[in-house]
Parts: sequence; C-alpha cells; structure tokens
Amino acid sequence: MNVLVTGADGFIGKNLLEALKRLDNITVQTFTRKNSLKDLDTFLDSVDLIYHLAGVNRSKDKDEFNKDNVALIENMIRMLRRKKRKPTIIFSSSTQAKNDTPYGRSKRKAEIELIQYAKELDIQLYIYRLPNVFGKWCRPNYNSVVATFCYNISHDLEITINNPAVELDLVYIHDVIDEFIQVMKDKQPKQKQTTYFFEVSPVHKLTLQRLADTLYQFKNMRENLWVPDFSDPLTEALYSTYLSYLDEHDLSYKLDMKVDHRGSLAELFKSSYFGQIFVSKSKQGVVRGNHYHDHKVEKFCVINGQAEVKLRSVLSRHVVSYVVSGNKLEIIDIPPGYTHSLENLTDQELTVLFWANEAFDPKNPDTYNNEV
Ligand SMILES: NC(=O)c1ccc[n+]([C@@H]2O[C@H](COP(=O)([O-])OP(=O)(O)OC[C@H]3O[C@@H](n4cnc5c(N)ncnc54)[C@H](OP(=O)(O)O)[C@@H]3O)[C@@H](O)[C@H]2O)c1
Repeated sequence: MNVLVTGADGFIGKNLLEALKRLDNITVQTFTRKNSLKDLDTFLDSVDLIYHLAGVNRSKDKDEFNKDNVALIENMIRMLRRKKRKPTIIFSSSTQAKNDTPYGRSKRKAEIELIQYAKELDIQLYIYRLPNVFGKWCRPNYNSVVATFCYNISHDLEITINNPAVELDLVYIHDVIDEFIQVMKDKQPKQKQTTYFFEVSPVHKLTLQRLADTLYQFKNMRENLWVPDFSDPLTEALYSTYLSYLDEHDLSYKLDMKVDHRGSLAELFKSSYFGQIFVSKSKQGVVRGNHYHDHKVEKFCVINGQAEVKLRSVLSRHVVSYVVSGNKLEIIDIPPGYTHSLENLTDQELTVLFWANEAFDPKNPDTYNNEV
C-alpha cells in the first residue's frame, strides 16, 4: 500500500512515521515544507491512503491559516480529481473547528471541502476533531501546554499558569497513532460511509494546576524515589511524556548509598502500590538481617556472588537454609513471622536485590531483631 503523510516533520507526523516504518508492505511518501506542490502532484499519482497532518495551529497571520489549512487541501483535491484517484483520507482536524476563530474556521473549511469531495467521489474519509494531543516530540512553547510544562519543569525553567482551574481535554499521542494505524488496517473494500467524523479515545481531563502539580511530583521523584501510580493511564502517559523531555545529558541521577563496614545499601524505587525495591552489596563474611517482620513480606534475589539465606519461624527452633547464587537466578520469599539472615559465602562481593511490599517507614519499620 502506498501511503502519503503530509506534515510529516511535525509532532503527530514524526510519531506516525515511526509507527508506519514498523509495519510491512507499506511504502511511505512524506510531504513537508521542503516539498513543492509539484512533488505533491507526483506523490498523488500512486497514493492509496493519505494522512493529512500538515497544518498550522498557531499564527499571528490569518492568511497563513488559509494557506496551510485550507489552500493546501484545495490543491490536493484538485490534483486528485484531475487524476481520478480516490485514496482514503485521514484528516487531523481540531475540536476548535466548532469555534469562530481564524484557526477554527480554517479547519472547518477544510472539513467541508473534504466532505464534499468524499461525497461526490464516494471516497473513504476519516476526520478526527482532535483535542490537545500530548506525548513525545511535541514542540514546547508552541501550542501544547503539556509540552511546554514538561520542557520547562524538566529544565528548571519557570512555568506560567494564568488560570489554574482551566480544564484541558487531552489525548495521548500513542492512542492517536494506534487509532490512525487501525483505520488503515481496517480499511475495507468499500462500505457506504454514514459519518465522516471519528474520535480518538480516551479523552483525559485535568486542570492546569493538576498538570503542573503532577509534573513537579515527577521531578521530585528523583529525590524521594517514589514512582507514579501507573494504574492510572493518564499518569502513565504523562510520566512517559515528561521523561521524553529530559535533556539527553540529564538522564541519570545518583542514589543515596548507605555505606558501612558491611558494604552498602541503596533504595531504588518506592511506591504505595508495590512497596519498595532496594539493593545491597556485602563484603566477604558479612551477615545481614537476623530480624523478622510482623506483617511486611520480602523477596530476595542474589544477583552476583553466592549467599546462604537462613530462615526460622519465630514459633519454632527449626532452621531452613537456601544457598543461592547469581549464576542461577532465583527468588526467595520471606514470609512474615520468619526471622531471616543473609550471609556472603565467598570472597566475592555479594549483590542482592530486594523487594518489600511496603516502603520503609522509619516511624514504623516493622523490623524486630531475632537471631536465626
Ligand atoms: N497537536 C495537537 O494537539 C493537535 C490538535 C488538534 C489538531 N491538530 C492538527 O493536527 C495536525 C498535526 O498537528 P501537529 O501537532 O503534528 O502539528 P505540528 O507539529 O505543527 O506539525 C504540522 C506540520 O505541518 C507542516 N506544515 C504546515 N503547513 C504546511 C504546508 N503548507 N506544507 C507542508 N507542510 C506544512 C508544519 O510545518 P511548520 O512547522 O513549518 O509550520 C509542521 O511540520 C495539524 O493540522 C493540527 O492542526 C493537532
């Protein structure tokens, strides 16, 4: 299938192109500012499906809305008519097409032109009136508050919130691209279309203040090691987006390693949903633990070196022992009420990864000394 993507240099275009590249049996042509109308004419000779994304969202010049959002479509339709070609067209319009603004009017005009052409020639047309799209590769300080806030907060720059209560309607770029690709895959041999308007879902709602608070929380997570609640799809999408705006020289952050004569211990991640992950390094002969937890549970995984993990129910004198090594990864469950110890058996440094179902709370550590 021959696919043409206009506006391929833009935010949605870049994300779409990468997704198309991952598919088989598709040839993709791109139309950008670098191309002429003559190029467009040539591309249309063999096109089966057009993603029409080229357009301007912000401009001080009203004529630019007409030129880029309307005239380009008019030219394209004129060329297609002349060629008698009937490609499927997927058009990214905007929820603002309902508004009486220069941008809104230009999108509405483009929709009308396309619908008229689609009706006349019975072509498949999918118009998406998109709300604010957010995600990786969106230009900051242009038309996306999410992109601007992500960029500024991740780069220690100020953000401005004029009205914190303003509610945003947002769709995630990943959902837009999934929908756009699905439309292409579902393209059936002709059925009469009953509507030309389609939607990307889910549409997320949040206020400017919540957006800013959430992004500042993400920023602080490098310090406090908490991770977001990924059971919420919006939080998950915002966190991915936020990370995509980090400077490429700012992708690492140091952990606080608590070093003592035994080795070191560092917390990696904490969450009120999955607890905590931490790592220890132990020198030769070091024994850690000899304590039990009343309700907290843990899992131990030796990553490097060899260790003996001993456990004893606090109700019993019977000791069980597991010898574990980084050469054959396995996890040991530490149930509540079992006092446990971990001993480095060799002269090699021992590295162990731990999971606990609760983040460590110094006020309520739920840890009681008890020799195994
Ligand atoms: N992102 C959103 O939240 C959102 C919401 C609703 C609708 N939309 C619509 O979806 C489309 C894509 O949005 P986007 O966020 O990817 O915008 P974008 O990042 O600005 O990308 C649009 C691309 O189209 C190019 N372009 C504009 N006029 C052109 C022309 N006449 N010939 C060739 N290229 C042209 C732009 O070039 P320049 O950068 O040089 O102008 C830009 O590279 C736009 O039509 C937009 O109106 C977007």
